[in-house]
Amino acid sequence: MAGGSGTRLWPLSRRLRPKQFLDLLGEGTLLQQTLARLEGLPCTAPIVICNEEHRFLVAEQLRASEVGDTCLLLEPEGRNTAPAIALGALQAERAGAEESALLLVLAADHVIQDVDAFQAAVRRAVPLAAQGHLVTFGIVPSRAETGYGYIQRGKALDAGFAVQRFVEKPDAQTAARYLESGEYLWNSGMFLMRADRYLGALGQYAPDMLAACEAAIEGAAADLDFIRVDAEAFSRCPSDSIDYAVMEKDPRVAVVPLQAGWSDIGSWSSLWEISDKDQDGNVLTGDVIADTTRNTLVHSSHRLVATVGVEDLVVVETKDAVLITRKDQDQRVKLVVEQLKQQG
Ligand code: GDD
Ligand code: MG
Repeated sequence: MAGGSGTRLWPLSRRLRPKQFLDLLGEGTLLQQTLARLEGLPCTAPIVICNEEHRFLVAEQLRASEVGDTCLLLEPEGRNTAPAIALGALQAERAGAEESALLLVLAADHVIQDVDAFQAAVRRAVPLAAQGHLVTFGIVPSRAETGYGYIQRGKALDAGFAVQRFVEKPDAQTAARYLESGEYLWNSGMFLMRADRYLGALGQYAPDMLAACEAAIEGAAADLDFIRVDAEAFSRCPSDSIDYAVMEKDPRVAVVPLQAGWSDIGSWSSLWEISDKDQDGNVLTGDVIADTTRNTLVHSSHRLVATVGVEDLVVVETKDAVLITRKDQDQRVKLVVEQLKQQG
């Protein structure tokens, strides 16, 4: 899934180049790293689902990363993750995948430091998914984050746990309670499930969505190396995330714990968290002079940026926009993007 907008990483993440297409850690773009993470797993050609606006960017990144065969599925407009995954499942069926084929659903904008641990978790999840569970990967929470889904563990299954309850993005109080209880994991937003099982669940909980996605794939047309879904059919598709549309409702969801240095790099402070820091706790990229500066992230793209006597800041310089924010306020960056949108 490579169709998100990544607004909290503005001004580096832009409409025409959202975060999944950025090289934030100097190790290839997040999309390229996501595909590289599959190497060694017994997968068929990955299906990349993105907005048609980004097709050449994506094609170029795939070419540069030497991942081998991929299928590029284009959405005329984003309808969130539940339809995107349905398109993927239907496309896999259309391309001849067996009915019981498993679908490994990954977000193109996550960082996973320990690839071996990730692959081991995927392998552990296979029998559960084959039995018909919708499997999600669960991260041990370290803070009362409100930007994630929470999973309450139920009884132990072979390789994980049955899910007692799935709660997408709780409020701060609830998240704090969940953290304290020790019974909850974060939903990583990655899933393993039988394609037919997911489509069946969607048909049950969101039949309009399934019908629109089926029509969009039936009417899909090849264009160069891309597959364009039928725009008219897809425009009739309701918008919803897999979490609200399916995971919160389905009785057979399982969770497999994952400890692999996972981060969804939702914001500048989370990028700071996972990056290597200098002895003052700074993460400095580009042409930067940092004097008496601590625990700060400075990113310069075009000009020399100097900081003196500051701490706990994020400073991001690009050609046409500069962001300065306190690290603990950086969730609000998306509001800037909303204002910009309103101004046209
Ligand atoms: N193709 C496509 N089309 N991809 C999409 C679309 C769409 O319309 N919308 C989102 N995506 C992609 C994003 O690029 C991202 O890779 C992934 O789907 C997840 O979407 P987000 O919008 O980033 O979801 P979220 O972060 O708010 O929440 C999800 O992820 C969290 C972990 O990062 C949920 O699954 C949460 O429960 C979870 O904790
Ligand atoms: Mg996300």
